[in-house]
Amino acid sequence: MAAKTGVLVIGASGQIGTELVLALREQYGNQNVVAADLKTASEEVKESGPFELLDVMDRDRLHQLVVQYNVGQVYLLAALLSATAEQKVMPAWNLNTYGLFYVLELAREGLIDKIYWPSSIAVFGPNTPKLNTPQSTIAEPSTVYGISKLAGERWCAYYHKRYGVDVRSLRYPGLIGYKGKPGGGTTDYAVDIFHKAVSGQAYECFLSKRTRLPMMYMPDAIRATMSLMEAPEEQIKIRSSYNVAAFSFTPEELAIEIRNHIPGFSVTYKPDFRQEIADGWPSSLDDSVAAADWGWKNEFTLETMTSDMLYHLSAMAT
Ligand code: NAD
Ligand code: SER
Repeated sequence: MAAKTGVLVIGASGQIGTELVLALREQYGNQNVVAADLKTASEEVKESGPFELLDVMDRDRLHQLVVQYNVGQVYLLAALLSATAEQKVMPAWNLNTYGLFYVLELAREGLIDKIYWPSSIAVFGPNTPKLNTPQSTIAEPSTVYGISKLAGERWCAYYHKRYGVDVRSLRYPGLIGYKGKPGGGTTDYAVDIFHKAVSGQAYECFLSKRTRLPMMYMPDAIRATMSLMEAPEEQIKIRSSYNVAAFSFTPEELAIEIRNHIPGFSVTYKPDFRQEIADGWPSSLDDSVAAADWGWKNEFTLETMTSDMLYHLSAMAT
């Protein structure tokens, strides 16, 4: 049988998908990487290769696209993120868990070879050690998003052990990028703040100034994702999800770093319901298992991420 050369990215119009699709197209060829989402994609994504409308909950349509494009790898990014999920509890649970089931089932049935599915720091909870959170530790999430991600991790491990499904996953920290707008997360402030700074406006932050969270710049997140998926199967020893880390900061520290480039940028703080979500998450992560198993190491720091974000957003604004 011919090798399955197609790559399907579900949730391709979101913050990560907008960048991941382009990186995958460079790696596997434009026509081999199919972007799919409920909503339309960026011009760059639509113009550089195939785009299909897809609701991942529609199993027939999912099956049809997998066959039509000879799909071997699926990157399942469609989800409701932490803040939105608290407002839409059952839709979030259904999408975040059944969407994953449908893709896992495609692999169990032998239709696809490999799956990427992202988890999150949200699998941890208020009882988890906050500093340098280990790969394996107390995971008692108190949000619907975290509960759905933890359940997803366990199902990934189960499908690998029981059916041999090659499913791989990362627990992303908060992701920061300039191409795609964030979609309803608790870490979104760390993207919104840059847009305000570049447009010369003040920013009102929905987290308190001293809330320290782990974060990562999008180029590192994309590189982590692709390295994980390219790594030889025997190196992938964790089939739930790997901790990956880059740097941690508070809103106040980020504002100070931005002010090194834009003096006079001002931030006020008005915590809302997202504060409680953030308070239950780690401040920093231990990613030594990912480093040992498949060689993960971040490149960007708070300083280099900030100057790169400001450079690109300023260029886009002119
Ligand atoms: P996003 O909200 O920006 O994008 C999700 C995309 O999924 C959207 O374009 C949306 O239209 C699409 N979608 C929603 N329901 C769908 C459905 N039924 N069928 C098809 N598409 C659907 O999210 P993101 O930030 O790109 O995150 C992608 C994944 O990474 C999610 O699983 C998220 O939990 C995970 N993650 C993200 C972060 C982060 O900081 N961005 C951190 C940890 C984990
Ligand atoms: N960055 C995500 C969120 O805030 C965490 O998975 O929801």
